[in-house]
Amino acid sequence: MPDAVIPASLGRMADLRLVELSAATIVAVNNLSLKPGQEEYLSPVSYGIAATVVNPQTTWQRVVLDGDEVVGFVSGNFDPDAPQEHFRSVLWRINVDADDQGRGIGRFAVTGLLEEARNRGMDHVNVLYEAGEGGPQAFFERVGFTPVGETEYGEVIAEIRL
Ligand SMILES: CC(C)(COP(=O)(O)OP(=O)(O)OC[C@H]1O[C@@H](n2cnc3c(N)ncnc32)[C@H](O)[C@@H]1OP(=O)(O)O)[C@@H](O)C(=O)NCCC(=O)NCCS
Repeated sequence: MPDAVIPASLGRMADLRLVELSAATIVAVNNLSLKPGQEEYLSPVSYGIAATVVNPQTTWQRVVLDGDEVVGFVSGNFDPDAPQEHFRSVLWRINVDADDQGRGIGRFAVTGLLEEARNRGMDHVNVLYEAGEGGPQAFFERVGFTPVGETEYGEVIAEIRL
C-alpha cells in the first residue's frame, strides 16, 4: 500500500500549541522579528491609548510554540465593562516570527483566541488594524474578520461573530 500523502502545510504545522507566557519564553517573545514594513502596523494608536485603562485581569495572552521553538504570540482582552464596545472582546496583538509567516501559524493563534472568547461567553471578537500595503488586513479578512466600522484615528474595526 502506498504511503499516505500528507499535505506539506499540515506536516509543518503538526507541532503547534499555545502555552502561557513564562520566564522560559518571554525573551523569545520579545525578540519575535517582523518583515520590513510591518513595524508600523504592530500597534494601532487606539490600542496604545486603551492599554492605559485595561484591567490586567481581563487580558489573555499565549505564546505559540512549534515543538520547543517560540514562533508567535497572541493576546486578547475580554472585559464586558470596557467603556468602548470594540474593546470588550478583542484581539489585542498577534505576531508571527518573520521566518515562520505564511505557514498557518497566525490562523492557528486566532483559532485559539476565538475558542477562549467562546469559553468566556462572548458572542463576537473585534480587531482593530490600519489598512495599507504590507499590513495585516488581508490576513484578518482571510481568517474571517469582516470590517464593521472605523475608529476616530481611522483604524478599521473588524469583527467575527461567534
Ligand atoms: C499578520 C500575521 C500575524 C499573519 O500570520 P501568518 O502566520 O503569516 O498567517 P497564516 O499563515 O496563518 O495565514 C492565514 C491566511 O491569511 C493569508 N495571509 C496571511 N498574510 C497575508 C498577506 N499579507 N496577504 C494576503 N494573504 C495573507 C494566508 O494566505 C492564509 O490564507 P489561507 O489560510 O486561505 O491559505 C503576520 O504576518 C505578522 O506577524 N505580521 C506582523 C505583525 C502584525 O501586523 N500584526 C497585526 C497587528 S497586531
